[in-house]
Amino acid sequence: DRVLVLAGGLSPEHEVSLNSGRSVAEALRRLDVEVQVTDVDSGLLDRLAQDPPQVVFPVLHGAAGEDGAIREVLELAGVPYVGARPQACRLAYSKPTAKALLADRGVNVPRGATLPKSLFHDLGAPALLERLADRLGLPLFVKPDRGGSAFGAAPVASSQDLSAALVSCFAYSDSALIEEQVRGTELAVGVLDTGQGPQALPAVEIVPDGGVYDYAARYTAGRTEFFCPARLDGATLEAAAEVALTAHRTLGLRDFSRTDLIVRPDGEVVFLETNVAPGLTDTSTFPMATAAAGTDFAVLCRELAQQAYL
Ligand code: DAL
Ligand code: MG
Repeated sequence: DRVLVLAGGLSPEHEVSLNSGRSVAEALRRLDVEVQVTDVDSGLLDRLAQDPPQVVFPVLHGAAGEDGAIREVLELAGVPYVGARPQACRLAYSKPTAKALLADRGVNVPRGATLPKSLFHDLGAPALLERLADRLGLPLFVKPDRGGSAFGAAPVASSQDLSAALVSCFAYSDSALIEEQVRGTELAVGVLDTGQGPQALPAVEIVPDGGVYDYAARYTAGRTEFFCPARLDGATLEAAAEVALTAHRTLGLRDFSRTDLIVRPDGEVVFLETNVAPGLTDTSTFPMATAAAGTDFAVLCRELAQQAYL
């Protein structure tokens, strides 16, 4: 076996991707799989043509990695790879698109609106923001419509804070998603398909120290408490698993994904987003969930690599 792990990438999640990529590479090497790790650049297509690996394992987060662009390159090169196809990635990576598709399937999603950067500048912030805050209700959550690892994302408690949150958001994306802030229990539910159809992994409950699962809370050990199994009743967890499976199927994903959800105090499950390249770092929830399911992460990585080219 010769697996090429793509890690790093072009997005602000570069560092996170390097750590996720290291996890995959180390896991595969433990099983004596021959692994190379490389970053993406303009030479990628040439490299793939001259020295084609058996399979590529893209572990790239954010733009180019999760929007399908690099996977288009892999399609062009004719190299098998682990994970979702480009078109499915495009649907999943756009949070408003994914929300709309899931809402059509009867899944609960947060009320929200998208705001392009150009409109924010043209219309003048205060009046527009007052209207949005009125319509959606406070507190709000602002996030890039396409992004990850909470870059440019922030809770907004009052309409005066909305403008600053949007400015930070627009540093990462040309369009902002402004949503009602859903209160409840935050869950990450992984989905795996190793040949028997998509199966949900045990949900991981996320309890950040400071209440917000921001970049530091995600990647600093000890800053967030995780519970797996989550501290919710069986029926609620089944409903959460069902939403994750519906997302995986509706978006047309392959191999694995992770859907982020909030369970309201009344038990209603609300879809936030689905990641086609979930974090695989030491503090990421996907490896916690596979461990809880009794699945060896290394064996899983090898299985995913094998099924990509078989
Ligand atoms: N975007 C990060 C890597 C995640 O969702 O895990
Ligand atoms: Mg994400």
